[in-house]
Amino acid sequence: MKILGIETSCDETGVAIIDANIKTKELKILSNVVASSLALHSQTGGIIPNVAAREQAKYMIPVIKEALSSTRGVDLQNPAGSIDVIAVTVGPGLIGSLLVGVETARTLAYVLEKPLVPVNHLIGHIYANFINEIHNSKFIIHNSAADMEFPAIALIVSGGHTDLVYMKKHGSIVWLGGTRDDAAGEAFDKIGRLLGITYPAGAKIEELAKNGNPKAFNFPRPMIYSKDFDFSFSGLKTAVLRETKSLSPAINYEPLTINNICASAQQAIVDVLVAKTIKAAQQYEVKSILLGGGVAANQKLRDEFKWKMTNGKCKIDFFAPPKNLCTDNAAMIAAAAFFNGKQEDWRSIIANPELYFDY
Ligand code: KG4
Ligand code: ZN
Repeated sequence: MKILGIETSCDETGVAIIDANIKTKELKILSNVVASSLALHSQTGGIIPNVAAREQAKYMIPVIKEALSSTRGVDLQNPAGSIDVIAVTVGPGLIGSLLVGVETARTLAYVLEKPLVPVNHLIGHIYANFINEIHNSKFIIHNSAADMEFPAIALIVSGGHTDLVYMKKHGSIVWLGGTRDDAAGEAFDKIGRLLGITYPAGAKIEELAKNGNPKAFNFPRPMIYSKDFDFSFSGLKTAVLRETKSLSPAINYEPLTINNICASAQQAIVDVLVAKTIKAAQQYEVKSILLGGGVAANQKLRDEFKWKMTNGKCKIDFFAPPKNLCTDNAAMIAAAAFFNGKQEDWRSIIANPELYFDY
């Protein structure tokens, strides 16, 4: 079954075609095209919604064309003959950006007479774990969760969200907790801004942290021992702000200090995410932990989880998506549609910027 996925929730315009084997549940990426207006947002230090929406509209058709033309076996004159299902992100996200993808998907579903599956972007991030990638034209399984055991806990850590959910099975997701203020990715980005690192700062902070000492600054681990599964990262950002103020202006001239701040802040974020996720996994007696979202690309976070699973007391299978599938893309949307897909009439599909874990 070939699924065409469309993702436009924020500043990335993604179109992917995946080949899903209904029997084995193997998902192969045939094409996965992402165009980003990130460079524009780096200049302004964050995303300006109407700029993002305008760029989505500009990229949408060229990205669809590129995804179709780079997929072997897709007849451009007759795409309807090559695609079985269309999947689209309907929320959460920026309304202007979402509308571009949703209206394009509705039009395609109507014109090509194909079923349409609405997908929750956050659930899409979880399903990046279930994709097997093609690499060098050989089929390689990248830590795929395709045969993982339920129940599972999933931690979604992105620029806009930090959520812990309990998955009893495919299609059965219960929200356990989330951030009360900044998301984990947002914390990386805001701390980056304080240090003069361009948006989005997560990957750069990770890089600088490699040459820093994670114990140099004792930043707070907010809510690490709280009884619930909520998070809070705004206090951490304030603690970094205090530190940078006391160091300023010398901070500009001290790369080691910046590296140490990056390493210490990253460690604080990782400690909280790992501790809370493992607490949930133990309390709910799950068999697997799944990581998803842009921050899931962070190697320190992946390593700490792996270390806890192999050397710690917690023997639970741990899965993280291939790094290139952690940030926003449409392959994960197509994957989520395959495992959870509820096909709907194109007339009933609407963009919902406030969509959450409510099904
Ligand atoms: O999932 P995503 O692409 O977009 C949202 O749905 O929000 O996540 C983007 C976020 C940004 O905040 C970015 O700083 C963060 O993911 N990020 C990272 C890394 N790569 C991206 N954070 C920490 N370490 C990374 N390597
Ligand atoms: Zn995302």
